[in-house]
Amino acid sequence: MKHLIFSDVHGNLEALEALLVQIQKERPDRIFFLGDAVGYGANPSECLHQIAEIADLVLAGNHDYAAAGLTSLEFFNPLARQAMLWTQSELLPDEKLYLASLPVIIHLPHLCLVHSSPREPKKWHYILTEQDAAENFPFFTSPICFIGHSHRVQIMLTDRAGNCWQSLDQSILLEEGYRYIINVGSVGQPRDYDPRGAYCIYEENSHKKRIQIYRFEYNISKTQHKIIQAGLPYPLAERLSFGI
Ligand SMILES: [Fe+2]
Repeated sequence: MKHLIFSDVHGNLEALEALLVQIQKERPDRIFFLGDAVGYGANPSECLHQIAEIADLVLAGNHDYAAAGLTSLEFFNPLARQAMLWTQSELLPDEKLYLASLPVIIHLPHLCLVHSSPREPKKWHYILTEQDAAENFPFFTSPICFIGHSHRVQIMLTDRAGNCWQSLDQSILLEEGYRYIINVGSVGQPRDYDPRGAYCIYEENSHKKRIQIYRFEYNISKTQHKIIQAGLPYPLAERLSFGI
């Protein structure tokens, strides 16, 4: 069984279309999206429709819930807030209802999927440190939890003794006795100093389980041009060149 997991598209249609090319090559059995279809980028409607079409499971992120009026903009920084007000004005009522209907966490038999954190998925906490990860492992029972939200690829592990650490590998074989929190990074607005989009492949068969992070190029300048043309804040275009 081959799973493709992606997150944080944020209205970036060029990055999503480049991911679709990767999906055609990868031919996964199942596709999971971990939230934030909209916010920041110039094509929120197009992205949420494409994602709904390709993904077997779709979660909501904080920007999706904000667009639907379910999360306050109080904790959004000024640029994110400005972009969200624009996004709200672009989306149709049915699109907001669809975003409001999405879950923020799904517990499958062997996997947990969540946008932010298994501990309090609607509080939108970030898991950035080994301490953050250690606090979250007790809140799911499966061996693996896939997350997004920080826009940074990260692989965290814990052993039976409760030790917790970060792996810097982009490809790991899963081992018995260990549990994992995998941040799959962002398709449409990476913040780990690599401007390429990110996605994760999780393959399991009777012999082994393997996780691999992939990066892909897309037409950044076209996305930047659209952001500026839409009247969205200029720094939201600029940051895409640097992966910040
Ligand atoms: Fe996000």
